[in-house]
Amino acid sequence: MCGIVGFIGNRQAKDVLIEGLARLEYRGYDSAGIAVLNKGEIEIYRSKGKLSVLKELISDKKIDSKIGIGHTRWATHGKPSDENAHPHKSKRIALVHNGIIENYLQLKNELIDKGYEFSSETDTEVIAHLIDSLYKDNLFEAVKNAIKKLKGSYAIAVISENEPDKIVVARYDSPLVIGVGENEMFTASDIPAVLSYTRKFIFLEEGDVATLTKNSVYIENNGKEVKREIKVIDWNPVMAEKAGYKHFMLKEIYEQPRAIIDTIRGKYSLEEGEIYFGEVDYETIKDIEKITIVACGTSWHAGLVGKFYIENFAKIPVEVDIASEFRYRNPIATNKTLLIPISQSGETADTIAALRMSKKMGAKVVSICNVVGSTIARESDGVIYTHAGPEIGVASTKAFTTQLASLFLFALFLGQKKGVLEKSEIKSILNDLIQLPEKIEEVLKHDKQIEDIAKEFVRYKNFLYLGRHYNYPIALEGALKLKEISYIHAEGYPAGEMKHGPIALIDKEMPVFVLGTKSRVYDKILANVEEVKARDGIVISTVTKGDKDIISKSDYSFILPVTLEELTPFLNSIIIQLFAYHASNLLGLDVDQPRNLAKSVTVE
Ligand code: F6R
Repeated sequence: MCGIVGFIGNRQAKDVLIEGLARLEYRGYDSAGIAVLNKGEIEIYRSKGKLSVLKELISDKKIDSKIGIGHTRWATHGKPSDENAHPHKSKRIALVHNGIIENYLQLKNELIDKGYEFSSETDTEVIAHLIDSLYKDNLFEAVKNAIKKLKGSYAIAVISENEPDKIVVARYDSPLVIGVGENEMFTASDIPAVLSYTRKFIFLEEGDVATLTKNSVYIENNGKEVKREIKVIDWNPVMAEKAGYKHFMLKEIYEQPRAIIDTIRGKYSLEEGEIYFGEVDYETIKDIEKITIVACGTSWHAGLVGKFYIENFAKIPVEVDIASEFRYRNPIATNKTLLIPISQSGETADTIAALRMSKKMGAKVVSICNVVGSTIARESDGVIYTHAGPEIGVASTKAFTTQLASLFLFALFLGQKKGVLEKSEIKSILNDLIQLPEKIEEVLKHDKQIEDIAKEFVRYKNFLYLGRHYNYPIALEGALKLKEISYIHAEGYPAGEMKHGPIALIDKEMPVFVLGTKSRVYDKILANVEEVKARDGIVISTVTKGDKDIISKSDYSFILPVTLEELTPFLNSIIIQLFAYHASNLLGLDVDQPRNLAKSVTVE
């Protein structure tokens, strides 16, 4: 995620940069920094921690400069620290970066061979040295040549002591805008950073490289000059921070296609039919006989889906435990156990305790975390990072689906290593996986329909969510989402369990949300729908395009795109998230900060 801001004009750059960073802090708050050109020399001020630490650091400095770049960091490569904070410098060049460079290790080795010394663990420092290594007398050309060598995603802003009247920017798969002012130009990863200075924006497109001076913008794409329209934005600053969405939760729901792309990026080769997990030393886990997943809440639901993935693709037995239960029974773990703690925050007290107990018993630990450098990440033998970016809404959405994506790929990885899966099978599964973000975009188009249905249902006091197999955990998640943000009581059940008790609850006051997408258990789910209808229940269902039976028995249905059965949990998740969101919003509740809840549960 991270936030970028840049300025050139007649104002004091530091003031513009610090104000811009303050408006971007929701994109990351692990560290912050600025680089300015002061009398022809680059000065860098940066520090670990929130922006307030940086402000304190520069409070007594005399910084006189009309050009600069700034950054607020959400760590992806390298823990939060002063050294890993941006901007990064290479000789006479300073740079800020947003994104993930997949081939940074290879580039780093090449640059080390050329004599460059690295002072951080980031992928960003590689870009700074790369640009310097290609610099002759033209920053624009050096940046153009450098980005040809980068694989991955980036939005960068670069300044040079040799050319003190310009900022060069470039983007690929990571947003970057140019704010156009009167004798001043801005650049930022998001509009809110500079909205108080201008409302005129140019939205850079994939592969654009641009030079900004205080009164000109020159853009090239693929070696040719391009003209981009200037658009006038009418958002107010609060809307802008949420990218125009009413709540962070809604914004984060919509960010899921992007977050999933970032999470799986660089971990597979479609041509080779191979999965890579450089962050996991397979040699140390190759003899494991059992996997235990521990987590809480929504992360636990991801773990339940993960069990299906791992047992299906890698044929390794998996137990999934709620961390607070695990720690107070006598769990069995040995040096043949792989523990997978799953945690968005990486700071959940019960999950940390489960990790420590398992380590004492000799288990190997590979965690799935969203926050780099968090306690769980630090104490694990290996960490698979979900690249969801900061999740501000208390109710987890994009963290959940990126956990699913990590588990899905990790299961394929284990299946490949164990020789359970053939290359051809992996290729075919990957083919479906890479289409998933587009399919999620399609599901997001149901937003209005979901809102309309939510309007009819917010008056109900109870809900039942039913799913089977891969979607049984999504039924649990649907109920949790509705409870936690709309305060409507809901229960999630594996549909086959209905006849063992909950069926007694069914009547016309109990709407039943059925996850009925095509699967090996489709007929069983259909039978459950019929049981509900026979008792005057109301059925809202999700179905797969082309469905005839569940749709005809349901009162309301959401038609989802065809995908691999294993990937249906992602599509169903979007529907249950949006339903809970609209219910909460329609009830006028505090969607992003529901009562009694905290984003990270660091106490028991
Ligand atoms: C629900 C939710 C919580 C968290 C749980 C674990 O929407 O967000 O249930 O999933 O508190 O938190 P992490 O994943 O940070 O360990």
